[in-house]
Amino acid sequence: MGTITEEIKRRKTFAIISHPDAGKTTLTEKLLLFGGAIQTAGAVKSNKITKTAASDFMEIERQRGISVATSVMVFEYNGQQVNLLDTPGHKDFAEDTYRTLTAVDSVILVVDSVKGVEAQTERLMEVCRMRDTPVIVFVNKMDLEGRDGFDILDELESKLSIKVQPLSWPISKGYSFKGVYKLYDKSLNLFESNKTKIAEEIVQIDDLSNPILDDLIGQYANELRQDVELIDSVYDPFKVDRYLKGELAPVFFGSAMNNFGVKELLEKFLEIAPVPQSRESDKREITPTEEKFSGFVFKIHANIDPRHRDRIAFLRVCSGKFERNKFYKHVRLNKEYKFPNPVTFMAQAKSTIEEAYAGDVVGLYDTGNFKIGDTLTEGEALMFKGIPSFSPEIFKELINKDPMKAKQLDKGIRQLTEEGVAQVFFQEPGSRKIVGTVGELQFEVINYRLEHEYGAKCIFEAKSYFKACWITSTDVSKLEEFKRIKGNNIVQDKEGRDVFIAPSQFMLDMEKQNYPDLTFHFTSEF
Ligand code: G4P
Repeated sequence: MGTITEEIKRRKTFAIISHPDAGKTTLTEKLLLFGGAIQTAGAVKSNKITKTAASDFMEIERQRGISVATSVMVFEYNGQQVNLLDTPGHKDFAEDTYRTLTAVDSVILVVDSVKGVEAQTERLMEVCRMRDTPVIVFVNKMDLEGRDGFDILDELESKLSIKVQPLSWPISKGYSFKGVYKLYDKSLNLFESNKTKIAEEIVQIDDLSNPILDDLIGQYANELRQDVELIDSVYDPFKVDRYLKGELAPVFFGSAMNNFGVKELLEKFLEIAPVPQSRESDKREITPTEEKFSGFVFKIHANIDPRHRDRIAFLRVCSGKFERNKFYKHVRLNKEYKFPNPVTFMAQAKSTIEEAYAGDVVGLYDTGNFKIGDTLTEGEALMFKGIPSFSPEIFKELINKDPMKAKQLDKGIRQLTEEGVAQVFFQEPGSRKIVGTVGELQFEVINYRLEHEYGAKCIFEAKSYFKACWITSTDVSKLEEFKRIKGNNIVQDKEGRDVFIAPSQFMLDMEKQNYPDLTFHFTSEF
């Protein structure tokens, strides 16, 4: 065990994000293999294990076969501690992913070489852009007849609004995929389709004009020479600080399923990815190496199995050292709590930990004291910023089906929204409740949980709204006028802030034009 500073400086906390099916699970599994965190090397088979058991620990997930839980996978590699925060694969749980992104210091984005940049990827990247999170792109499935490397780079730049720069370059693709040329150390990594071992053949080629290249990759040698010449003329040497500022995303090519290109991705990631970063609070900026502990809750995981009604609050440690059984201040409630069984996660296994350092994620058993964004400290009254609610995309009115259970319904929906399952907006007169989510599936989850956990019955009535925007203005009279005229579409969030529910993009654009003094925010933090 090193000093607090040494411990923090050897940590890398990140998430892998992708559009479903691009290969996030497969890549995660390969990284864990390299890290020695799992031993099952049969890629195809262990993929299945990953999908059905490892990294899934919630009943609903087993029922539906999709990942709704965000767990944390910890492994050591070359003296560094890697904290990989898993994100749900299903798009309906995107908000979970958005929140997880508030707890990481960097991101690896997986893109399918055949499908290119897909819708979900664009949205996830928008969230990364909000905090300038450094991103590394892994273009996966190069063993398929995907797109040309330059086409993919173009698409990444145009659709993700970030500059990209290849650090490795594919040699052909699909059936004729030969491997990648590592631009940063001028070596050739030759591809051998092999799902069961990690061995790769690496050849140092300092000068691409060397005829040995023709022996190794035959007809593709000249293509590679031309491509690299073009890359050298287009790109300046790679600058790590631009990556760290979130301005430039280095790009790697490979095939996760075949263990190809993963090791260089991991090693480069460990070399350049940021260590735990400072965070804004409402009082001051908190540096990770500060002696005193602080952290915030970014996710709450409820076990919907009625026999195990426990909730786990996931806390990102932001500074200092967290210790088991020590009293910490829950700032919002202004109360001291200690945690006898803080846990860390490895796939579906949980284990109790004694201590955790800035950058780590700890699971805290919770009986309902936490909500998303809550801060724990060693006494200082501060709240971390940057854990916003995002505008939902599907809206339904919650209608009570059992008047005798109105209280249970109220309590249930309030608690579920504090866990982040959905957002609820209130409309007067009549105390109507409009529930907003990013996916249809959440309504099923809410329905199920309200009934099983709170004994309340409800139905949802679909509303054809487009987006919820928090509205503010420096001109109070203008804001009041807008609220009066648009009364039917004005609601309040749980904190009582004004929200405009726009019926359509067209209407939203029009209101923005008509009310230039108003600001329309797409996240709850502004
Ligand atoms: P996800 O978590 O992003 O949703 O993707 P996942 O890893 O589950 O991968 C989606 C599918 O793509 C899987 O196939 C997986 O095997 C395949 N895949 C991942 N990496 C590569 C690659 O480098 N090349 C090719 N050709 N395929 C890849 P599946 O048929 O859905 O599942 P499985 O039966 O293979 O487990």
